[in-house]
This record gives sequence, structure tokens and C-alpha cells, in this order.
Amino acid sequence: MNNYVQISNIIKKFNRVITVQGDKSISIRWALMASQAVGKSRANNLLKSEDVESTLTALKKLGVKVLKNKKYCEIIGKGLNSYNFRNNTIINAGNSGTLARLILGLLSNSNKSVIIKGDKSLSKRDFSRIIKPLNIFGVKVKSNKNKLPVILKGTNCLRPIYFEEKKGSAQVKSCIMMASLNTPGTTEIKCVNSRDHTERLFNYLKIPIVIKKLSKTHQLIKIQGKNQYNAFNYNIPGDISSAAFFLVLTVLSKNSKIIIKNVNINKTRTGIIDILKKMNVNIRIINSKLVNNELVGDIYVKSANNLKAINCNSELNSKAIDEFPLIFLLCAKAKGISFFKKIGELRHKESDRLKVCSNFLKSIGVKTIEGKDSLKIYGNPNLKIEKKINIKNFMQDHRIFMMSCIAALTLGGEWKINDKNSIKTSFPNFILTLKKIGAKIK
Ligand code: S3P
Repeated sequence: MNNYVQISNIIKKFNRVITVQGDKSISIRWALMASQAVGKSRANNLLKSEDVESTLTALKKLGVKVLKNKKYCEIIGKGLNSYNFRNNTIINAGNSGTLARLILGLLSNSNKSVIIKGDKSLSKRDFSRIIKPLNIFGVKVKSNKNKLPVILKGTNCLRPIYFEEKKGSAQVKSCIMMASLNTPGTTEIKCVNSRDHTERLFNYLKIPIVIKKLSKTHQLIKIQGKNQYNAFNYNIPGDISSAAFFLVLTVLSKNSKIIIKNVNINKTRTGIIDILKKMNVNIRIINSKLVNNELVGDIYVKSANNLKAINCNSELNSKAIDEFPLIFLLCAKAKGISFFKKIGELRHKESDRLKVCSNFLKSIGVKTIEGKDSLKIYGNPNLKIEKKINIKNFMQDHRIFMMSCIAALTLGGEWKINDKNSIKTSFPNFILTLKKIGAKIK
């Protein structure tokens, strides 16, 4: 099977109700937390993707029983510090930064060595951000110049830490939270706001956690460790980061509407909605309700015919962190010059998304100015493509592949977009869902 798609038709107008697959962040967290609960936990709508599969395989290697069928997944946990594995066990985190970083936290008190490795993209990413706090806990971590593979040797004398997380990284915060579970005393994290799924799960599981708002942008989290929790059942909502592709497809198409049902609309994830509103888009959330301590709702959006440029408030950065490739594409079609600041973290994703997106926009005729941690985009509401475009996608970045498909389906031209297989990471049904609403893709 070819590992590319060809698109040479703009999508015709549509009016649909769709769903997207389960949330990746929540799916991985559910599995990791279930693995240290006592008893059998069950998840409905767990994302079926490579990142989640890598998580389940990792847990099996650590001696955890995982049962799966078409409808649900069950994990049988034996409590905190119950993993059972051989010295020098190798865990392959594949493409998943979330898995690699969070599981290192959970393994912090194992008395055996574990080796964590990953694919080409993950092996280029920075692990110093979690090695530093783990070292303070008393964990020994050897790495390849702060990159994977890392070898972790835990300790059963973990010391509670106070750590300042300055990047707004949920992975760093959650790694520390995972380590705190097995640490006696109170672990404290002063952090820049970021997605709070781990905090919500801790609350849901009645793990003693106190969250204090320090300012508009910072908070202090305190966790009392060594508190066993019970198995739990969970409904995974749709992933807003997957829904975002269909929101932007609709906005950039003519005379179209979509409702995406049952999406996680946790406030720490809805930056894309805030940004779309600021850019003049008619978008609404309907039927919102709290399910398993996460807000879930349906998102309605219509095509836009007068998109406005945005001078993006950096407080939205972490709320929209995975949606920037799509947001940049929107800005290419907006009236005026858009500006994004303090977005250096985009250089540390599955690819250097700041550079890749800036080059992408240039290749379709949009002027950009790329700074060290900023981007300026000169929008053109009449942007149309008439030439052949070949997207190479060197780092096999799933979100770059999917954003390119949305560009091809809304801007015209003849596109060849490489690395279709990358969608297996987060949204294997992406192309199927596009075809269902009328996209012509070869
Ligand atoms: C994630 C956090 C974000 C995000 C990633 C998933 C998570 O990364 O980009 O896709 O599940 O915690 P950072 O924590 O590095 O910002």
C-alpha cells in the first residue's frame, strides 16, 4: 500500500454530524492510572491508535494484565508499586512523548532498571525536562545527551519535591504527578497552566490533591503520596485535537456546517475554539455535561467568509498547543497579518512545527517571518493554489500530514502528501471520516 495520498479536488459543500475517535491524552492517562489501581478498570471508547497501543504493550511488559475487545478495554491493576518485570526491560514508546514521560514517573520507585526507547521523531526530543525533577526525587536516569534511549533506575526511598515547571508542559507536570503517587509526603509543583487531565483523574480517584490558583497563568499543585486508589470505569470523550481538523475544514470550505458530537471540551484544551471566535468564526458548544470529571459537549461550526487575522494572546498557547499547524493555515486565508509569540515549544513536538509550518506556508505562496519563538503570517483571503504541491513530511508528523490534507481540500491545486501512515499515531480513522463527508482522496 502506498504511504501517501493524492488530493486534487476541493471538497464540495457539506452539512454533517460526525464523531471523532477517543482523546489520546486521556486514553494514555486512563491506562497508566488503571495499571496501579486495585482491581479491574474498564474504559469505553479508548482511542485505538499506535500511541495507545504502545502504552498497553508497555504495561504488559511490566506484568500488567490487559484485556481488550471491540467495545472496551480492561486493565487489572494490583496497586501502587506492583509492576513485575525483569531487570533491563526495554519499553518502546514509539512516537509518544506522553507515554515516555509519564511512565518514567510511574517507574520512579522500581528497584530494577528500565530502558525507554522511541522512534526517530521521539528520539530527537528533549528529556532533560523530566530528568531534572526525577533526579530531585532521588531517581537515577542515564540518557543519550538528554535524549532517548534513557535508562532509569528507581529507588524505594523517593523524597517529595518542590519543582517549578516553567514551560507550560502537561507532560512534565504529569510525570512529576505520577512519581508523587509512590512518594511519601507532599510533592509540590508550581506550574504554568497546561492541560489538566491528570489533576482531574486524581480528583476523580480521590487521591489527595490540592490545586491553588496563584495568578492568571500559574498554579500550585500539592499531592499527598502513598494513597492507594481503587479500580475505576471511564468513558473516554472524543479528542478535540482530532475534531480540530474538521472544524478548520468546515471554516475554510464554502457554505458548509458540521456538528462534532461528544468531544472533550476541557477549558485547558479549547484554545482552538477561542482562537476561531477571535478570527470571526461562528462556533458554538452545545449539550455540555460533566462525564467522569471531564467536560464533554458537541461543537457546531459554520463556514466563514471573512476570517480576521489574529494577534494571539500567548495565554492561549498551551490551550491550543497541538492545533497550531491548523491555526497557521487559517491565518494564511485571513485578512491581515497574524502574529504568534512565545511559541518556541512548537519546536519540541513530533517535528519542529514552527519551522515546518513556516516553510509549508511559504511553499503555498504565503509570506511568513519566523522568529526564534514567534511567527508572523501575512494572510490572503483570496489564496488559491493552482500548482502541484509535494509534502515530504520528513519527521512523519501526524498533525502535519492531516493539516496538509485540510489545506489540499480547501485551497485547490494538485497535492501529493507523504506519510499517510502517521495518522495511526492519533487518528487512524481520519481519512475514512473525511471520505464520509465527501472528500475525494486517492
Ligand atoms: C500532552 C501534552 C502536550 C501535547 C501533547 C500531549 C499530554 O505536550 O503537545 O501532544 O498528553 O500531556 P507538552 O506537555 O510537551 O506541551
